Amino acid sequence: MAEAVAEALGVEELAADDAWWRQAVVYQIYPRSFADSNGDGIGDLPGVASQVSYLRDLGVDAVWLSPFYPSALADGGYDVDDYRAVDPRIGTLEEFDDLVATLHRAGIRVVVDIVPNHTSNRHVWFREALAAPSGSAARDRYIFRRGRGPQGEEPPTDWTASFGGPAWEPVGDGDWYLHLFAPEQPDLNWANQQVRTDFLTTLRFWADRGVDGFRVDVAHMLAKDLSEPLPSQAELTAGGLPDGTHRLHDRDEVHEIYREWRAVFNEYHPPRTAVAEAWVPAHRRPRYASADGLGQAFNFDLLQADWDAAAFRRIIEENLELARASGASSTWVFSNHDVVRHATRYALPNGTDLRAWLLGGGVDPQPDKEQGLLRARAATLLALALPGSAYLYQGEELGLFEVADLPAEALQDPTWIRSNGTERGRDGCRVPLPWTASGPSFGFGEGAAHLPQPPEFAGHAVEAQAADPASTLAFYRRALAERRRLQTDESLEWDAERPDVVHFHRPGGWACVTNFGDTPVPLPSGRVVLASGPLDGVQLPPDTTAWLEPEGLLQERDDITD
Ligand code: GLC
Ligand code: CA
Repeated sequence: MAEAVAEALGVEELAADDAWWRQAVVYQIYPRSFADSNGDGIGDLPGVASQVSYLRDLGVDAVWLSPFYPSALADGGYDVDDYRAVDPRIGTLEEFDDLVATLHRAGIRVVVDIVPNHTSNRHVWFREALAAPSGSAARDRYIFRRGRGPQGEEPPTDWTASFGGPAWEPVGDGDWYLHLFAPEQPDLNWANQQVRTDFLTTLRFWADRGVDGFRVDVAHMLAKDLSEPLPSQAELTAGGLPDGTHRLHDRDEVHEIYREWRAVFNEYHPPRTAVAEAWVPAHRRPRYASADGLGQAFNFDLLQADWDAAAFRRIIEENLELARASGASSTWVFSNHDVVRHATRYALPNGTDLRAWLLGGGVDPQPDKEQGLLRARAATLLALALPGSAYLYQGEELGLFEVADLPAEALQDPTWIRSNGTERGRDGCRVPLPWTASGPSFGFGEGAAHLPQPPEFAGHAVEAQAADPASTLAFYRRALAERRRLQTDESLEWDAERPDVVHFHRPGGWACVTNFGDTPVPLPSGRVVLASGPLDGVQLPPDTTAWLEPEGLLQERDDITD
């Protein structure tokens, strides 16, 4: 079916390229905060479809849609009621198909989010499990255990959940179920054959509809060793078992699951791709990224790094090496729906405790926004020059900052409640995008947005930036266009190492240089293709990246930089 759709649309060239993902620019859309077509304050699929030309003009190769499935939104849609449907509040399956077709016609591929570690508590399986007795087949799809104490009134262990609070929830008959995230997200039992088979059906369901790839949520947690005796939380946190493994994370058996998924991906032409969200140590990443597994894995190392040349250099070297080891290409990420936006992180001193900073309303220390945006642009331009794929998060191209002062009553992230108000959570990077400089939700929709937007969004609106060549949006468009022109094979050569400078060359004479220091450094020779901030004659100012190419190549390029 996928080929038929592609052919009907005249996009055979999309179908033909097996390696499209290796150096793709993938733009993450958080659908409920992107564009709202019907004024109910919630972004929707027709809203995304209405902005396909925006995505095309931006120059991205693919979009990754965060979950758009039916959900009570206990965790922003990562609590899925039904994996093979669209949340009726944000669209229909037909609208999904239209969106895929429209994106494909614009030359943009589609990656969808798959959430296999847990369903929502409204999923039909979980409802069946609750209705069925202890020890039943229906309960075996999840992780139920008898409670401790005579009546099972104590949880099986003292484990804590990611969003705070206990990881076990009682169901009233002495059984408890495991939820490593919110109580509305019961963990699935991946040792259960039905669970395995059903996910293969889900993967085929979306692949048949023309979806090009999958982003796999908490990919490192599906396989668990729950043999008795279960360890205590202290033993879990102490770093695992004597053989170096952990009971719940990154177990080798998880790759048996992904080998089955890979077989399904390879039934398609081109093979469907996948990228693992696996928070594992760098050296464990190639297992997820291998060709008989998911094929690619997120590398969050730059996202977690300080603004520091030596750190960037080391991370880049290590990840290119790891990518080579797995046969995959590396991934580069600075922002997503789970972390403080990078323009804000770089506005704060290295080492700032972001949780404490958010809890204080984002005022101590006071962010230096000018520096933050300058560094964010420099970091992005550096990453866009690297071999591998770049994952961008909606709004970073508008230079959006974290909205750190959302009123407590507006917060939606389960972290806020589950931590008893000691962690603000992730809403500040999920505030709906500003499209116009005025209007009830800055053009996001006709009504107020589901998370309040600050007045400063007016200046960041697409409308305010589109025609301004100095804007961050114009900068992203140029960077993506130049990358498309310059990107070749996946090799990189370092220039001589200098303190505070990251400088490397790519095939064809393209070079990228970043100044992490606080004094200007001389610009290397060559013609400046693009810079992340203003240049100072023949000097590269602090917090700035420039791309250069040999003078002689001038005649070959399209005139897209001015
Ligand atoms: C992933 C998602 C995050 C979600 C969690 C549980 O980390 O990115 O948003 O809360 O998984 O599904
Ligand atoms: Ca809507």
